[in-house]
Amino acid sequence: MSSTVLITGSNRGLGLYLVKEFLEHNFTVYSISRTLSDSLQNLKESYDEEMILYEADVTDSSGLGEIAEDFSHQGCTIDILINNAAVHLEQPAPDIGDLDFKKIMRTFEVNSVAPLMVLQHFYPFITKKIINISSEAGSIANCWRKREYGYCMSKAALNMASKILQNRLEEEGLKVLAVHPQWFRSDMGGSEAPITPAEAAAYVRKTILKDWSLEDPIFVDSKTADKLDW
Ligand SMILES: NC(=O)c1ccc[n+]([C@@H]2O[C@H](COP(=O)([O-])OP(=O)(O)OC[C@H]3O[C@@H](n4cnc5c(N)ncnc54)[C@H](OP(=O)(O)O)[C@@H]3O)[C@@H](O)[C@H]2O)c1
Repeated sequence: MSSTVLITGSNRGLGLYLVKEFLEHNFTVYSISRTLSDSLQNLKESYDEEMILYEADVTDSSGLGEIAEDFSHQGCTIDILINNAAVHLEQPAPDIGDLDFKKIMRTFEVNSVAPLMVLQHFYPFITKKIINISSEAGSIANCWRKREYGYCMSKAALNMASKILQNRLEEEGLKVLAVHPQWFRSDMGGSEAPITPAEAAAYVRKTILKDWSLEDPIFVDSKTADKLDW
């Protein structure tokens, strides 16, 4: 039986290329997206049996619950959960006087809270790893920005959630990682980024599939993960 991965936010950007990357490496992929893009449906034509498509907003607990119920009925297991869906709503990023707190709250809801909600629904099915797609933007130690409060704060909060989860789930042998996928070209990353989403997805897959021990740090940079001596 092939390994399985559940990926959120999979209709475009990194999520779409992660779906492709894992399919090309013989995984069965469960995809959750708000809408089914043409690219996702085209992939489905080539990988009909290996690809299972669900539609849900990651902030909608009842929608996620219906999918989890389906997993339960079908006896599915998830080797790897990838919380990829996210928003960056402050573009261009305003200075202090113009902050839009509705946007900041929504950013927290999608980027920091929803990954926990997804985990709550799918936790019973997970056998190996929980991956939260984070960002260097969430690093407090390396912070250079003077704006982008909502996005950066939301990723810092996601990193903290990842650490608490690792503390809790190591007793069950589950590894949790917060992965920085590099700056790549996408609707969020823009067109100036140095690498393609396909390249970012390949880095992320290799990083995830490394033989991590439960004691390794939770935050990893997908480009340098191979070179670090833990
Ligand atoms: N791009 C970069 O350079 C970069 C750098 C560091 C980290 N990251 C992280 O990498 C991940 C992917 O980024 P990306 O650049 O691929 O972003 P993107 O192109 O903007 O795509 C975002 C994805 O998230 C989905 N999404 C947003 N809100 C959702 C919701 N409420 N429910 C379900 N899905 C939702 C979107 O679906 P819809 O089409 O329905 O909106 C879309 O599929 C994110 O976690 C991001 O923070 C990106």
